[in-house]
Amino acid sequence: MPHLQISIDRDSSRQLAGQIRDSVKGAIERRRLAPGTRLPSTRQLAADLGVSRSVAVEAYEQLCAEGYLRARRGAGTVVADVDTGGGSPVTSPLIAGADGRPGLLDLRTGATDVSLFPRREWLAAVSDAIGNASLRDLGYAPPSGLPQTRQVLAGYLGRVCAVEAAPECVTLTAGFAQGLSLLCQTLLRRGIRELAVEEPGHPGQRAFIASLGMTPVSAPVDEHGLRVDALARTGARAVLVTPACQFPTGARMSPERRQALVAWAREVDGLVIEDDFDGALAFGQRPPALQSLAPERVVYAGSASKTLAPGLRLGWLVVPSAVLPGVEAVRATVDLGLSTIDQLALARFIENGQLDRHVRALRAHLRRRQEAFESALHDHLPPARVANVAAGLQTYVRLPPGLDEAQMVGAAFRRNVLVWGGAHYRHDADATHAPALVVNHAGTTMSRLVEAAQHLGAAYLDCAADPPARRERPARPVRAGRARSRAQFLAHCD
Ligand SMILES: Cc1ncc(COP(=O)(O)O)c(C=O)c1O
Repeated sequence: MPHLQISIDRDSSRQLAGQIRDSVKGAIERRRLAPGTRLPSTRQLAADLGVSRSVAVEAYEQLCAEGYLRARRGAGTVVADVDTGGGSPVTSPLIAGADGRPGLLDLRTGATDVSLFPRREWLAAVSDAIGNASLRDLGYAPPSGLPQTRQVLAGYLGRVCAVEAAPECVTLTAGFAQGLSLLCQTLLRRGIRELAVEEPGHPGQRAFIASLGMTPVSAPVDEHGLRVDALARTGARAVLVTPACQFPTGARMSPERRQALVAWAREVDGLVIEDDFDGALAFGQRPPALQSLAPERVVYAGSASKTLAPGLRLGWLVVPSAVLPGVEAVRATVDLGLSTIDQLALARFIENGQLDRHVRALRAHLRRRQEAFESALHDHLPPARVANVAAGLQTYVRLPPGLDEAQMVGAAFRRNVLVWGGAHYRHDADATHAPALVVNHAGTTMSRLVEAAQHLGAAYLDCAADPPARRERPARPVRAGRARSRAQFLAHCD
């Protein structure tokens, strides 16, 4: 009998470690694994499943990092006290779980520095909204949003990114997540079951799309953005893209590709979803939104999560007029729209120029952080190369060819830096890719980023001193005071 009931699908292209992680996570969330339950050692688990031990270690490391498991010396690995809200899942695949370990430098993508949120200015906008809201504003608004907010947003988007937006085509959403959900449901109702997504891309989005009943299909990305020729071969008629700043590589879609993508959409009678969640923060002169090339084929999607704060849950779609009735029909089954106070506050924040001022300051701030990180990386890990040009929130770091990416991620973790490698963003486990780290430079301070670069340099030297062939040897005793090591991790696990 196995020590732990886990299902893995060897025919799936998904990585085994990811499958184990999801299976354990699901069991914890459904309370099949209660807090405090001791899990089998990585050795036992690997033997039960017939996988290599490093696969089991990777899955456990990830679950520890996400707060689902705790590894304690002598006590093995136990299920952490996760609040599962009475049995229903508490996490969305769209966001990384928290890691509360003291001193850990968490450089995973997704985070933004909410300490920069302009509290005073937003408070003034909310106060103004409450003070001046009409009785009508305090009632039920159309689910797509208050007309005045849609009007202000349409003007703003037209001005800053050339979006062609009639106010009635603007729909306020609870972040991009809700926008994506509405669009997937609309596509399904139209009989479109496949949504092409970028490879590499956001693994959580992929899972989210699948959970909505659509099939995500991979379309590869290169340094010019999405490869439209490969997209055409997938047979999909809808695609989700990040043209301003490809997530996670930072590639900006070239003018030729933008034209080709629009031509593809027209040819297949398809739909493009332009995820512009961080376009305002991308470095350099941003090109006009893709939507401006074909407003009848492109849904523009924006969010306040990175420019203001994810906790606001404010986002917006600009929907082609032919698709609008479908989106509104779905919306009518979902909710009665967002808080009108928040909508009024957003409109006020835009109208009085605060959003422009804040975004300008934030962009400059993030750029300084990114430059400080890049320069520290140059000092401490000279063979690494920063690949992206449009980096808004994350830096795509190409590691020296030949370096084992997974080993580097593990070495960084031992030195208390939690970062994902390029493989985390790739669905196709077989595809080879140059080793890389994706470093979120938006969610932490400049000094912590410089510290992280030092640790990454040290982690690189650890890897050079411990090539992959020798990695599976027995754990060495670890000197006191040294950063948490893989040896320690293995000792805790087992
Ligand atoms: C690729 C991508 N799109 C969109 C978003 C924004 O999502 P939301 O507006 O739901 O917070 C994120 C957040 O991290 C993201 O990584």
